[in-house]
Amino acid sequence: MIEKTYLSAGRSAPLRIRVNGRETELDVPPSKRLLHVLRDDLGLTGTKRSCEIGRCGACMVLVDGEPVNSCLAMAYQCQSKSVTTIEGLSEDGMTLVQQCFLDEGGYQCGYCTPGMIVSVTALLANDPSPADTDIQEALSGNLCRCTGYGGILRAVKKAIELKREQTG
Ligand code: FES
Ligand code: FES
Repeated sequence: MIEKTYLSAGRSAPLRIRVNGRETELDVPPSKRLLHVLRDDLGLTGTKRSCEIGRCGACMVLVDGEPVNSCLAMAYQCQSKSVTTIEGLSEDGMTLVQQCFLDEGGYQCGYCTPGMIVSVTALLANDPSPADTDIQEALSGNLCRCTGYGGILRAVKKAIELKREQTG
């Protein structure tokens, strides 16, 4: 009886989500994380797998515009939601934030970079002129083992400056 209940509870169910603007439907078991749907089922490997316990931010994606650690989000929790990964931030080349990371040496190995860029993108979408403390707060869930953060912070500040110039 216990086994039957367990099996029933673990049965796959349809998941409908919009990923990078594309409607997607697939069957997922209730224990499957959003991270694994993105990487293993949809091949979106720009979203990185690292700690898998919500500590590093390498797996950060946007869910309905909000930054979320996809290793902590169960796939079924994203039913009918819109998910944006690093691959979906730009349809044609790099975004301003990505270009600034490149220009300012905001990465070395690059493993943390997709998560960093997703977090910065969410920050600037909500506040185009964040204070230094807001930038630090927005990136507090993203760990980098390589850069010492100097290049990352320069990149964010440059993106803010260029965005301000573009919008006048
Ligand atoms: S892999 Fe998700 S927070 Fe580290
Ligand atoms: S650039 Fe290597 S972990 Fe950040």
